Amino acid sequence: MVFPEYRPRRLRKSESLRSLIRETQLSPDQFVYPVFITPGKNKREAISSMPGVFRISVDQLKREAQQCLDLGINSMILFGLPEKKDAMGSGAHAKDGIIQRGIKELKNKAPKLTVITDVCLCEYTDHGHCGCIINNAVDNDSTLEILAKTALSHAQAGADMLAPSDMMDGRVSEIRARLDEHNFEMIPIMSYAVKYASAFYGPFREAADCSPQFGDRKSYQMDPANVREALREAALDVEEGADILMVKPAVAYLDIISRLRDEFDLPIAAYHVSGEYAMIKAAAEKGWIDGDRVMAETLLSIKRAGADIIVTYFAKDMAKLLQK
Ligand code: PBG
Repeated sequence: MVFPEYRPRRLRKSESLRSLIRETQLSPDQFVYPVFITPGKNKREAISSMPGVFRISVDQLKREAQQCLDLGINSMILFGLPEKKDAMGSGAHAKDGIIQRGIKELKNKAPKLTVITDVCLCEYTDHGHCGCIINNAVDNDSTLEILAKTALSHAQAGADMLAPSDMMDGRVSEIRARLDEHNFEMIPIMSYAVKYASAFYGPFREAADCSPQFGDRKSYQMDPANVREALREAALDVEEGADILMVKPAVAYLDIISRLRDEFDLPIAAYHVSGEYAMIKAAAEKGWIDGDRVMAETLLSIKRAGADIIVTYFAKDMAKLLQK
């Protein structure tokens, strides 16, 4: 069928027709809202490179959770800033650590919320790397034990889902085994399976105070140039028992999301990261773009590429826009 018999514009005539044939929808219940928890009481600290995002103390979590639930966002992912850091990141698995307290608070005050935790050491190590340092290098296998301990402590505090983000080899199976040994076989693992060594994490590192104090993360996070390696990483995590595969960042890696969608049948998550958020916010503040429309178009592109779940600092803004 060619013009003039077929006219694609026929179905674009009105909003009602356009919405009738719309292929992709955004829905707040598939958003995950990231939250930074800081020590102290009554704290709500702005993060300069992430307008609209705050570091909040444990007592503020209930309010944050209620706002999310009221907007139809049922899941949050937690990041913690510990009181003190050390070489082994021991604050990550402290029984009364910042995340463990946050999980308990949320499970008490907002039981309907799905509480996901980021399992990683970089916020807890004084050197800022995601693993232990041996001979000036981030050591893989000795890090696994600390990650497993951390994961278990999150589960014991009541977390609903764990999201390891460190990119050590073998961590999904190590965490799965530790959880199962302690009867947490029903807690799913959302693996940051494909996480690139990206400059888009800049604002997050300010927010979570976790910049590496020497070197960079390129010996464990992936090279942005690689696609086949992403498929190998994802396949390994499937074998190791991951329940959800995450790609991170999102927009600069839509091709990777799409490839994973084609090759795997597990749910796919995408992390629309801090730098991706900051760029839109900054341009909108300058009046150079329409912030709401660019936000919506961006999140839609992530969905269209094949992500089921979107982790995004825009969760609440987008949910509000969807209500209009
Ligand atoms: C921890 C972690 C990072 C992010 C999520 N978990 C930072 C990093 O790997 O350097 C980044 C999230 C964002 O930029 O929004 N490893």
